[in-house]
Amino acid sequence: MTKMIFTVAIDGPAAAGKGTISRAIAAQFGFAHLDTGLLYRAVGARVLAGDDAAKAAQNLRAEDIDRHGLRSAAVGQAASQAASLPEVRAALFDFQRSFARRPGGAILDGRDIGTVICPEAEVKLFVTASDHVRAHRRWLERVKDTPTLTEADVLAEQQARDARDSAREIAPLAPAADAVILDTTHLGLDDAIAAALQAVAAALEAPKT
Ligand code: DC
Repeated sequence: MTKMIFTVAIDGPAAAGKGTISRAIAAQFGFAHLDTGLLYRAVGARVLAGDDAAKAAQNLRAEDIDRHGLRSAAVGQAASQAASLPEVRAALFDFQRSFARRPGGAILDGRDIGTVICPEAEVKLFVTASDHVRAHRRWLERVKDTPTLTEADVLAEQQARDARDSAREIAPLAPAADAVILDTTHLGLDDAIAAALQAVAAALEAPKT
């Protein structure tokens, strides 16, 4: 039996809950999951170490996305800057595209999965929440390791990154026209996961047109 091609594209701004929802879908349906932000973060980390962004993207290796420290705010900003360069996005395109259409089902989360990487994805979700709710969640995660961190710092960092990611000319952060919008401002995480699982289950059952 040939394995099915089935892609779930999840886009949205920083700290909206994309990762948690993606992992829940991957576990439920047995799909492979790619956090595409990690590719840009790995490039950002190499830029902070002195490398050229385009060269770093062209020479990226699997182990680069396993490095410690990729989740830091400094790497996030460097990633967002590198992500606005067409050469960087071009270098990372084929890997993401093949991952999306690999046999057996795939879920990718990022900013441009439903619009650029895989516009024919069987399910497209755009996960979002208010600036303050997202900043509060990220602050709760980070304050354990950085007790001096304020919520205002996190909000400012996040707004700068979202503004750059939304305003860039190439593949800006935006919902695809046919994406299901999941606003987690008031929706609890369990309810958001349930809604996402339902959208995927419905698409898996839908007859192919
Ligand atoms: O999802 P994240 O916060 O780990 O992503 C880090 C940065 O990478 C983000 O600010 C913008 C960029 N990015 C992107 O441009 N396109 C993607 N598909 C994923 C991330």
